[in-house]
Amino acid sequence: MPEAMREAKATAIACANIAFIKYWGRVNPALNIPANGSVSMCLGSLTTTTTVLLDEALSADELVINDEPTEGRALERVSRHLDAIRQVAGSRWRAKVVSRNNFPMAAGMASSAAAYAALTVAAAGAWGLSLDTAQLSALARLGSGSACRSIPAGFVEWQQGSDHASSVAYSIAPPEHWALCDCIAIVAAGEKAVSSLQGHTLAETSPLYPLRVRTTGSRVRDCREAVAARDMVRLGEVTEVDNFMLHAIAMTSEPPIHYWSDETRRVLDAVLTWREQGLPVYFTLDAGPNVHCLCEEANAEQVAQQLREMPEVLEVLVARPGEGAHLVDEHLDS
Ligand code: DP6
Repeated sequence: MPEAMREAKATAIACANIAFIKYWGRVNPALNIPANGSVSMCLGSLTTTTTVLLDEALSADELVINDEPTEGRALERVSRHLDAIRQVAGSRWRAKVVSRNNFPMAAGMASSAAAYAALTVAAAGAWGLSLDTAQLSALARLGSGSACRSIPAGFVEWQQGSDHASSVAYSIAPPEHWALCDCIAIVAAGEKAVSSLQGHTLAETSPLYPLRVRTTGSRVRDCREAVAARDMVRLGEVTEVDNFMLHAIAMTSEPPIHYWSDETRRVLDAVLTWREQGLPVYFTLDAGPNVHCLCEEANAEQVAQQLREMPEVLEVLVARPGEGAHLVDEHLDS
């Protein structure tokens, strides 16, 4: 940005994503370089929109999330991420960041992947940086590892890489490639009890961790091929194995982390029963108790309806493959 300007503004939108093969553990915590590659889908209906306003008159970064001025840890994390982008831009200007999620925060679905992907693209836009998808993905990764997978569109692979430039995500198929649905059963509201950050750090204390790291490459390949072939059974099976491996690591870490609740368990049992009855639906969980149920479009309405009928399910969000993070013309009010 020409420093003669007193203000510059850009707004970006980014989707959350659900990993089929997950990121759990890091070889380089400072750069969020993961212990293994991962594969995900952008969730089209779960988006964060973020406006970054650079203003010469600002003496510190400011953050507003869903109309609430926000300070403390959230602001510090955003500010640290802006520092990385300021370094690329060669600028010292402070920013006002205004961010809004279109999905209910109360449902415990606050997604730092969508947030840091949107922030990265908006900040790069405000500073007038011309970065390609890989460079934006690398930058987003510094804010939140999984955010690098919300930069490209549709079905995405994050290659582990060995340094900042090579640990990036790219699209393996566009959103229209496959009408896959994620019916998200919300079983608990509020913040996660144990953050993913703690989980990544504790992962190494589990005796199962080296085994997972050693075998993830073949699951990534399997998953990539399942997506290319639109093979629901193959995708579902490899996703569930990887899901159980992650949670087995969490449960055997020191101290152990239990992300599942009784409600989670009951939803998993229901999904297994529906599958025995012939409904092709599979599940995966992130670092929390909500259950992501994966199925094809033809079965999405039935899956969502059956989930809604369960007393332990507070709400069901349905997401289809989404776009990559991109700039938009309309700014949020600051
Ligand atoms: C279980 O470190 O990217 O979702 O805490 O939201 O920044 P944040 O998460 P991150 O870890 C994500 C862990 C995961 C698996 C995955 O998305 O691959």
